[in-house]
Amino acid sequence: MKYNDYISVAIDGPSGAGKSTQAKRIAKEFGFIYADTGAIYRSLGLACYRQNVNCKDEVAVMAVLRDISIDLKYNTEGEQRMYLNGEDISAEIRLPEISICASDVSAHAMVREYLLKMQRDIADRNNIVMDGRDIGTVVLPEADIKIFLTASAEARAKRRLLELQANGIESDFDSVLEDMKYRDAQDSSRAAAPLKPAEDAVIVDTTDLDFEASFEVLFELITEVIKENS
Ligand code: DC
Repeated sequence: MKYNDYISVAIDGPSGAGKSTQAKRIAKEFGFIYADTGAIYRSLGLACYRQNVNCKDEVAVMAVLRDISIDLKYNTEGEQRMYLNGEDISAEIRLPEISICASDVSAHAMVREYLLKMQRDIADRNNIVMDGRDIGTVVLPEADIKIFLTASAEARAKRRLLELQANGIESDFDSVLEDMKYRDAQDSSRAAAPLKPAEDAVIVDTTDLDFEASFEVLFELITEVIKENS
């Protein structure tokens, strides 16, 4: 049963598949709120990193999580900002070392359970496009449409490198590809809510599609769902 009258679009897929860029565009086009759930795990990863806590140690990570406040807010432009104990950490959580910590902390079942409500609460109050790894399978199993966005690891690493460079973060293709493969393997093989398409997800492979062509595919899919719901 659906929880509310709002439309929810779930986008899952591996890192670098273009989920956030596509989701932002969808949000703008349809007037939805965009929720980036990876940013929540990144915020916890940053908190552990700053405290020198081993991100693979579930008990230690939970102690950090219970002791901090992570807030997700929207600024006047509708852009999502992340706060750790009141400090805006939206830029810092994008650093490559924090990506690895985020993947490590997100593998813990207790962490995922703890952060579930926060994610569901956002979808409960808004028309939403939410991206992550388990949105269609766990967070919003009743989403109106579930999209699994993917692309080859090489194509994703290339895009991620450009994104990092655009944000002034230095890196190189080989280390981005290596990080990506590490995260792919860990995010897909963990026992707790592993990255996998929901049974009723539409799989969109963007390896050979540019941004506009990918967006068109998603636009058509979502327009169809909105028509069905109106
Ligand atoms: O989407 P991202 O790269 O910002 O996510 C960072 C990490 O968080 C990623 O390696 C996997 C994890 N994650 C998750 O396990 N579940 C989500 N819904 C979103 C992200």
